[in-house]
Amino acid sequence: MRVLPEPSAQSLRLVFLFVFVMDVAPSPALTAGCPDRCVCDDQLVVQCAGQQLSDFPVDLPLATRQLIISNNRIGDLPALQLNYLSDLVYLDCSNNSLTEISESTFGNLRKLAYLDLSFNSLAQIEDRTFGPLASLVMLRMTDNPGLSEIHPDAFAENAALQVLDVSRNNLTALNISSLIALPALRSLGLSGNPWRCDCDTEDLCLWVQIEGFKFQGEMRFFNRTGNFLSSICVF
Ligand SMILES: *[C@@H]1O[C@H](CO)[C@@H](O)[C@H](O)[C@H]1NC(C)=O
Ligand SMILES: *[C@@H]1O[C@H](CO)[C@@H](O)[C@H](O)[C@H]1NC(C)=O
Ligand SMILES: *[C@@H]1O[C@H](CO)[C@@H](O)[C@H](O)[C@H]1NC(C)=O
Ligand SMILES: *[C@@H]1O[C@H](CO)[C@@H](O)[C@H](O)[C@H]1NC(C)=O
Repeated sequence: MRVLPEPSAQSLRLVFLFVFVMDVAPSPALTAGCPDRCVCDDQLVVQCAGQQLSDFPVDLPLATRQLIISNNRIGDLPALQLNYLSDLVYLDCSNNSLTEISESTFGNLRKLAYLDLSFNSLAQIEDRTFGPLASLVMLRMTDNPGLSEIHPDAFAENAALQVLDVSRNNLTALNISSLIALPALRSLGLSGNPWRCDCDTEDLCLWVQIEGFKFQGEMRFFNRTGNFLSSICVF
C-alpha cells in the first residue's frame, strides 16, 4: 500500500486559498458573464449559433456543459481554451470553416458525449485525434467535401461510441480494424462517399454485408476515374 506523505504547510495553504476563493466567488457559470453574441442560461448551455463568429468565443463560463457554435465561420478550435471546459458534454461545431483538428484539440474533454464536426473543411483525421474522448457516444462528421483520409486507429479508444456518421465526405476506403472492435457501436453512416471496390474496401464491404443492420443509407462504389460502378461490391 502506498503511504501518502503528510500534507506540507504549502499544500495546506493552497487548499485554504482554494476553499476561500470558492467560498467568496459564486460558481464561474454565474459570474464569468457570457461571450459576446452568445446566450448563456442557468442550465450551463452556451448558444452561439449563426452569429458570424470567425473566432472561437472567449470568456466562456468554465462550467459550460453544452456549447453550440454551429453556423459560423470559425476556422480553428484552440486547444487551450477548449480544454478549460472539462465539464463539456455536448459540443456542436457543425457548419464552420474548420480545416484541422489534432490530438491536443480535445485533450481534456473526458465527459464529452456528443460531438458534431459536420459541414466543415476537414481533410484528414489523424491517429489519436479522438483518443481522450472516453465518454464519446455520438460523433457526427458528415459533409466535409475534402475529407479523404481517416487513420485506422482514429476511433480505437472510443469504447463508448454508439453512433458514427461519416456520410458525404470524400472517402474512398476505410480501414475498419479498430471500428470492428468497438463494443457499443450500433450505427455507422457511410453513404455519399466515392467508395472504391477494391482490396482496400474488401473488409468494409464484408462487414456491411454481415452486419447490415448497423449501416445507414446506401453505399455506392466508383472506379479510379470516378465513374459509378454499382451499389454492391462483391469479391
Ligand atoms: C451554414 O451557416 C450559414 C450561416 O449561418 C447558413 O446560411 C447556412 O444555411 C448553413 N448551412 C447548413 C448546411 O446548415
Ligand atoms: C476528393 O479526393 C480526390 C482524390 O481521391 C481529389 O482528386 C478531389 O479533389 C477531392 N475532392 C475534394 C472536394 O477535395
Ligand atoms: C488496417 O490498420 C491496421 C492497424 O493500423 C493495420 O495493421 C492493417 O494492416 C490495416 N489494413 C489494411 C487493409 O490496410
Ligand atoms: C471507369 O469507368 C469508366 C466508365 O465505365 C471507364 O471508361 C473507365 O475506363 C474506368 N476507369 C478505370 C480506371 O477503370
